[in-house]
Amino acid sequence: MPITQIIELSNKQGMQIKLSNWGATWLSCELPVNGQTREVLLGCRSLEQYQQQDAYLGATIGRYANRIANATINIDNKQYYLTANQGVNQLHGGKLGFDKQLWLIQSCSDQQVTFLLISPDGDQGFPGELNVTVTYKLTDDNQVIILFNATTTKTTPVNLTNHAYFNLDGEISKDILNHKLKVNANYYLPVNANGIPNKGLASVAMHDMDLRQPKLLSEKLLESAERQITGGYDHAYLLDKTKAIAAQLISSDKKVTMNVTTTKPSLQIYTGNFLQHTPNRHNGEYGNFAGIALESQFLPDSPNHPDWPQPSCFLQPEQIYEHYTAYQFFINQ
Ligand code: GAL
Repeated sequence: MPITQIIELSNKQGMQIKLSNWGATWLSCELPVNGQTREVLLGCRSLEQYQQQDAYLGATIGRYANRIANATINIDNKQYYLTANQGVNQLHGGKLGFDKQLWLIQSCSDQQVTFLLISPDGDQGFPGELNVTVTYKLTDDNQVIILFNATTTKTTPVNLTNHAYFNLDGEISKDILNHKLKVNANYYLPVNANGIPNKGLASVAMHDMDLRQPKLLSEKLLESAERQITGGYDHAYLLDKTKAIAAQLISSDKKVTMNVTTTKPSLQIYTGNFLQHTPNRHNGEYGNFAGIALESQFLPDSPNHPDWPQPSCFLQPEQIYEHYTAYQFFINQ
């Protein structure tokens, strides 16, 4: 029987990350800033607490990240009924998503670890046995590169992401509202109060959802009609693939900048609007907006919107799902 384990990777710059095979979870990310260690990832005190919280802290999300409306998909004229775990909809792969699985450690070295999961045919209602690996690499230029690979025995939608929440001021600081965020995206996806896309892609131009220039997260956060629906940012942005990076996040003290690059078509920006009561590392709880998740993925509910301008989210048996997302940290000493 596999057991839960914690793996530590470190690089020549003195950066250290921790991971667990429980949910193939990214537990911790410590940066050396001005001779001190700065933890920039939200996390819990123990693995038991990770297993109890419902914010998906640092977890690998699958088989399908984000929401699928009515927990129903159609493949080759056949309906598949998935496990619903948020009202009638499915969120983050269903009741027992990949975040709640014990993965195998396939290989591990000083700066790299690979986790393996076999998701059986019919898992959470999805067709096909899915063989998934997730590799975390810590490079000497302070990048955490996450490689996602999968193969299937039947056509199935696959959307793997990581759900880390960042606070670049250090996770003990209250919130991320004074961070600046830039997202290279010309379109975003409006959603209803259940987070289900309801209007199709909308242009960010002339709109208060525009993040193409670095923007203070607190700026009119809850004055925007769009963000009032979701209690803050909780929206997918369709990335401008002509740009080298997907997004850039800057700490309020300007000492830490994080660049996000990805092969995925979109980024879900979630400002931790419902984080309160999530256990933190210090015997207490996080409040709302304590961290921000920048989740690379296909647009939400893509299986039901094949017309959207992105590659297909369906993986065929003869194909290999291969994506990566990298978070690179720059420290201004
Ligand atoms: C995000 C999602 C949010 C919320 C969160 C988990 O990915 O966009 O609406 O469900 O996960 O608490």
